[in-house]
Amino acid sequence: MQIPIEEIDQIAAILRSRSRRRPVVGMILGSGLGDLAGLIEDADIIPFGDLPGWPLATVEGHVGRLVAGRLEGREVLALQGRVHYYEGYTMPQVALPVRVMQRLGIGILIVTNAAGAVHPEFVPGDVMLITDHINLVGMMGLNPLVGPNLPEFGPRFPDMSQAYDRELRGLARQAAEGSGIPVREGVYVGLSGPSFESPADLRFLRAIGADAVGMSTVPEVVAARHGGTRVLGLSGISNKANLDGDTVTNHEEVLEAGKVLAPKLESIIRGVLRRV
Ligand code: HPA
Repeated sequence: MQIPIEEIDQIAAILRSRSRRRPVVGMILGSGLGDLAGLIEDADIIPFGDLPGWPLATVEGHVGRLVAGRLEGREVLALQGRVHYYEGYTMPQVALPVRVMQRLGIGILIVTNAAGAVHPEFVPGDVMLITDHINLVGMMGLNPLVGPNLPEFGPRFPDMSQAYDRELRGLARQAAEGSGIPVREGVYVGLSGPSFESPADLRFLRAIGADAVGMSTVPEVVAARHGGTRVLGLSGISNKANLDGDTVTNHEEVLEAGKVLAPKLESIIRGVLRRV
């Protein structure tokens, strides 16, 4: 079921009372990337647990709090940790943080994730600018917009032709170039998890056009676009997907890769914020 607008607004009102910041850019920091929130200046910190109905992050590598402050002179609100469908939340719950950000007036969402490489040339430590996604889970019926439409956000049948904003991607490319960070570009496929993919799953995902695979991001981006929020999506490639059946994937490897990826993503995000 959809979360009623009154509940979304109640959380937004609490956040307004807990922080005088008026963020214009939202950030969702994925597995192993949450430390980026520590860079935010003059920060107000609000634990997820202080917000009624807010889904709590249960996975290691996700701290579970909101950080509102300034980064590169821009007012930002970062989710240090996110929730995933596989934790047992409904899709509207997974999308709730985006809804609250939208009611707070955020116009741009920077979403990061850790992802497995499906493209044969991608390696752990690579940054991929997301050009598009495959909403495999949504195609099977688990779309965060299922249920009564919330017209305060957008139309019943929202467009997804440019889910990932071209202009923001251009700024990210410039920022990466300016910092000497090579970047990949490609298509992210969102699965439910929590089991990693089998080699046959991965051959299928490659065949349908995926370059990277993960267990987040897509429901958040669908809700963001429904509400007209512009999206920049950044995947940190944390592991080589298990295409051959000889590569074992585990969460420790995902968190470890975050240490290499975090400084790269930081430079790119800072560069984008300077340019927007
Ligand atoms: N598969 C799915 N999700 C992921 C992976 C992966 O290989 N790595 C990080 N998140």
